[in-house]
Amino acid sequence: MRFDLESVRERLPGRGIEWFQSIDSTMIAAAKLAREGAAHGTIVGADEQTAGIGRHGHSWHSEPGAGLYISLVLRQERRGAGMIPLAMLALGIAAQQAIVETSGLAPDLRWPNDVLIGGKKCAGILAQMEGEAMIAGIGINVSHAFFPEEIGDVATSLAMEGGRVRREDLLVALAEAIEETMGILAKEGPAAILDMFTRTSSYAVGRRVKVDQPGNVVEGITCGLDASGFLVVRQDNGVEATILAGGVRPA
Ligand code: BTN
Repeated sequence: MRFDLESVRERLPGRGIEWFQSIDSTMIAAAKLAREGAAHGTIVGADEQTAGIGRHGHSWHSEPGAGLYISLVLRQERRGAGMIPLAMLALGIAAQQAIVETSGLAPDLRWPNDVLIGGKKCAGILAQMEGEAMIAGIGINVSHAFFPEEIGDVATSLAMEGGRVRREDLLVALAEAIEETMGILAKEGPAAILDMFTRTSSYAVGRRVKVDQPGNVVEGITCGLDASGFLVVRQDNGVEATILAGGVRPA
């Protein structure tokens, strides 16, 4: 169905929004806009991405019209690459909240910010710095009826889980939730976001996981996040490992 950009503009007044029918990746367009001085909160979205970017060198399956594919330009007072792990958590919480609000579903969060329903991923998030600005990329699978075989076991959509959601409503809820959680991070500081994540993710504490690391696999029980937002896993030999990048899966 055609994306009703006007209805979104009405509900997000004053917000810069660029919408494309088809684009390689909204991350590339948003980075360009950031270099040109785009304001905080500017949204770049597309009905379809031909080269959607995922984390860890993966691609992001971006079927036309079936998902919400957006990147935001964020200009925070607290900034720099050190903020990315905490911003990743804040963005994940916002995506989870927006999905709850619009679909009534009850998604989980897997560190750092995969949004899961029934153990399968319905949304993914990445963040990178572009000069002084942070570019946050969010993909939510909304109405996909199926996925390519290679991701069929691990991916799901809101529709496949029984949630009927309009992309426009999801975008408005998401933009508002991001303002809220990034605002909490900026004003109240990391502890508030760490606490929110710990309360809403079943992966934060007491979960047996395996984590693929370069050269080895860490296995153990999660025991919370450190002050920087990294996941701590207590291995069976008692040694605690700090997980700096994703690849967390249930053991
Ligand atoms: C992940 O691997 O979990 C992160 C996926 C992020 C996908 C989104 S879709 C909108 C934005 N544009 C991209 O090319 N990637 C992000």
